[in-house]
Amino acid sequence: MPQTKKAITIPELRVRKGKTPIVCLTAYTTPMAKRLDAHVDLLLVGDSVGMVLYGMKNTLGVTLEMMLAHTQAVMRGTEHACVITDLPFGSYQESPEAAYRTSARVLRETGAAGVKLEGGEEMAETVSFLTKRGIPVLGHVGMMPQSVNAYGSFGARGKTKAEARKILADGQAIAKAGAFAIVVEGTLEPIARELTALLSIPTIGIGASAACDGQILVSEDLLGLFSDFVPKFVKRYADLGIEVEKATEKYAADVKKRRFPRSEHCFGTKKKKR
Ligand code: KIV
Repeated sequence: MPQTKKAITIPELRVRKGKTPIVCLTAYTTPMAKRLDAHVDLLLVGDSVGMVLYGMKNTLGVTLEMMLAHTQAVMRGTEHACVITDLPFGSYQESPEAAYRTSARVLRETGAAGVKLEGGEEMAETVSFLTKRGIPVLGHVGMMPQSVNAYGSFGARGKTKAEARKILADGQAIAKAGAFAIVVEGTLEPIARELTALLSIPTIGIGASAACDGQILVSEDLLGLFSDFVPKFVKRYADLGIEVEKATEKYAADVKKRRFPRSEHCFGTKKKKR
C-alpha cells in the first residue's frame, strides 16, 4: 500500500498537464474513501451518488444537502487525495451569485478543495465569477448528465460536426474562465484529443479516450457493485457484486441451519481461566 502524505493540492493537479496521468475516482462514503485514498490523486463526490446509492434514474433529484453529507463522509476517510464536490442540478445554473453561495457552503461545511459544475460557454461567466473569488472549479463538458432530458439519452456526444465544434468551444471557454481542469465525458476520441491539445489545463476523461490528461470512473462501476450493465467506457476490475451475493447466500444458509452464530461469536460462553 503506498504511503499516505499530505493532501494533493489544486495547483499540483494543474501542473500535471501532459505529464503522468491524473488518477481520479468517485467516492460517496467514508469506508470507500479510506480504501481508495492512497491510490488516487482526486476523489470526486459525484452527483452520480443519486443513481449509484439512491437508485434514481438520473442525477436531477440530487440535493445540495445530499452532496454536503456525502462530502463530509468522504472527507472523514481521506488524507491524501484532493476532494472535489459536484454542484447538484438547480443549485448553480441560475446565476453566478447562486453558484457562489452554493460553492461557499460546500467549501465551508465540508472542507472539500473545490467544486465541479457541468456546462460550457453558457457557464463561463459563472466559472470566472467563482475562480476570481477563490473557489477552484473543475469543469465538465461533452456528455453532461444533468442535461439528459435535453439530449434524450446518456449517449456519447460529438457525433455531428456541430456537436464537435460545440464541445471544443465549451472546453476552451471554461478553461479561459479559470477552471483548473475539465472532465470530458462520453466524447468521441478525436474531439477529446483535439480539446486536450488545445487546452493548457488538464482534461480528465470518462468515456473520452486515453488522449486525456487523466481518467475518472465511478468506483462502483469498476468494482462491479452498481449494475449488471457495463458501459463501453468502463473496465471492470473486480466483480464485488457477485461476491456480495455469494457471501449473503452463505450467511442466510448458516442462519437457517443454526451454524451461525457459534460460541466464539457469543458473549458469556468462554470458560473462565483458573
Ligand atoms: O457524477 C459523477 O460521478 C461524475 C463523474 C462520472 C465524472 O460527474
